[in-house]
Amino acid sequence: MSALIEFQEVCKVYRMGDSEVWAADHISLVIHRGEFVAIVGQSGSGKSTCMNIIGCLDVPTSGTYLLDGRDVGSMNKNQLAEIRNKLLGFIFQQYNLLPKLTLLENVEVPLLYAGVPKPERHRRAQEALEMVGLGDKLRNKPSQLSGGQQQRVSIARALVGKPAVILADEPTGALDSHTGREVLRLLQQLHDDGNTIVLITHDNSIATQAQRIIRLEDGAVVYDGDAHAPEAVVTAGAIGTGGAS
Ligand SMILES: Nc1ncnc2c1ncn2[C@@H]1O[C@H](COP(=O)(O)OP(=O)(O)O)[C@@H](O)[C@H]1O
Ligand SMILES: [Mg+2]
Repeated sequence: MSALIEFQEVCKVYRMGDSEVWAADHISLVIHRGEFVAIVGQSGSGKSTCMNIIGCLDVPTSGTYLLDGRDVGSMNKNQLAEIRNKLLGFIFQQYNLLPKLTLLENVEVPLLYAGVPKPERHRRAQEALEMVGLGDKLRNKPSQLSGGQQQRVSIARALVGKPAVILADEPTGALDSHTGREVLRLLQQLHDDGNTIVLITHDNSIATQAQRIIRLEDGAVVYDGDAHAPEAVVTAGAIGTGGAS
């Protein structure tokens, strides 16, 4: 397996007046092609900061981020937009669908940016919607769907460009637990099909659906390993003198 995402001593420091917040505090990690990883931690632990860096929406203050072997820190805006469109698929808590477009048109959007010709756009968007079980609703608008269905559309949109990695930021955060489990099953199916998935969540029971957990506290990695090891879901207060390494 080859390294797809590599952080070398990545730091992100926010300065406000005299004070500093280390939202990422010397994070080093490697995620390989085909992995299903959950980045977990309490509110303020640095999950979104990590997600934004992985997603090329923000750059580290110091340290190096290699995406598919390429140094993201040295790229200009256009190069970042291109690599983002080519290598990354995003799933957000609030779906972020365009209300005036049909489901088919929503899923076509990333392909439009990538310059894919219309007939192929159409065919691939339809395939992606069929894959998430919405092949019979191609012409519907997002408002005609339930929350779970809308999240499935956003998953289809994340998939359609065949990205190297799918980034899901609290994808079940707006859903009831039953619908949330369906969405997680779909992510698991995508992983079984060979996709690389990075799932961001504050919820341990969701994180354990992944193979591997990376736990953050105060911007630092305090656990990185098997999602099913008992140490994987230990919270800060419960860590004894043995530490969490
Ligand atoms: N734009 C910003 N300016 C100042 N501080 C920030 C900014 N973004 C995040 N932070 C701080 O960085 C820390 C990590 O935030 P974040 O990555 O959003 O955590 P999480 O997603 O785990 O809740 C928090 O202390 C937060 O207040
Ligand atoms: Mg966050």
